[in-house]
Amino acid sequence: MIYFDSAATTFQKPKEVSHAVYHTMNHYGANAGRGGHRLSVRAGELIYETREELCKLFDLQEPEQLVFCQNTTQALNVGIKGILREGDHVVISSMEHNSVLRPIEAASGNGKITYSIVRANEKGELSLVALAREIRPNTRLILITHASNVCGNLYDIEAVARLAHDHGILCMIDAAQSAGVVPIRAEKFDLVAFPGHKGLLGPQGTGGLYVRKGLPMATIMEGGTGSQSESYHQPTEFPDRLESGTQNVAAIAGLGEGVRFLLREGLDAVRQKEAELTELFTNEVLNIPNVCLYGTDKREEKLGVVALNIEGMDCVELASILDEEYGICVRAGLHCAVLAHETLGTKDIGCVRFSFGYFNTKKEIERACYALSNIASKRSSY
Ligand SMILES: Cc1ncc(COP(=O)(O)O)c(C=O)c1O
Repeated sequence: MIYFDSAATTFQKPKEVSHAVYHTMNHYGANAGRGGHRLSVRAGELIYETREELCKLFDLQEPEQLVFCQNTTQALNVGIKGILREGDHVVISSMEHNSVLRPIEAASGNGKITYSIVRANEKGELSLVALAREIRPNTRLILITHASNVCGNLYDIEAVARLAHDHGILCMIDAAQSAGVVPIRAEKFDLVAFPGHKGLLGPQGTGGLYVRKGLPMATIMEGGTGSQSESYHQPTEFPDRLESGTQNVAAIAGLGEGVRFLLREGLDAVRQKEAELTELFTNEVLNIPNVCLYGTDKREEKLGVVALNIEGMDCVELASILDEEYGICVRAGLHCAVLAHETLGTKDIGCVRFSFGYFNTKKEIERACYALSNIASKRSSY
């Protein structure tokens, strides 16, 4: 089996990740921060240690500003709903995932906010000038993805943050595709949402939100935090303010191991490996007749995500053949990003997405290219 769906969830993880989940469940599976006994204390330490590892990865000084969430979607919702106030205007791009679009659209549907969509070109490339044009006097937030989950285009988020901050506007990043692959200096931004289960190589059910210190955040959920139990009110201190209820200690311990692995290997090595695989795949695929690729042609501005179609063939059928006849797992259809598909011109036909991870090999890429070439040459017989 060949797994090329790392943009959804990385499947191949360092063995330390599942060991940590198993070990934590068997030895420290208590409730963190809810008791003074040794198991609860150890569970709390494990969570804190993962926060510290994430700080190293994101170049952060304050572990308490990292809030654990179940996934990027939850982190985006906690951030968006926590920061926006009545009358605010938000700028997003036309390459956003539905996990950005839908909470923003919902807030606008309630009449609370308004928003503008900056249109990328048909290759999914975004212009800073176009972004600046959408800024209004009441713009409070620019919210942008670091990399497209459909075509892998990577965006210059530090330039976006500078633009936002020069105008006194907050900047939030959706780092679902980039965290663990590209360095992110989180302190350059006001909010950063990230998954634990993709590039950070942790278990599903993990993710997080970085919130810049001092940012006033409303809560979307209140409850037990293990702190200030005498109070009727949600604590104002972080991370407790945004972390209510029992934490998934075992999964967070697993995430810590995923991050430790990345810190040992170095993000440069991760990025280079993925770039080599992507380069090889793209070069081979460009030689196959009737294959159409989406996204930017600038290879250095792309992650290990390649979207394509074979002309005249349904993308879901192509993915099924790859799975059933060649044992290759890819995702097909619309990739939870209607705006991006509108931009790339694939809203009506969808596309097949190949997404590579650190544990994929050149041999696997060659097998996939062989499969695609075979399928393309026989496409009229399917
Ligand atoms: C760009 C982007 N944003 C948000 C999400 C949602 O992430 P999660 O599945 O962790 O909720 C994804 C998922 O693939 C994504 O690619």
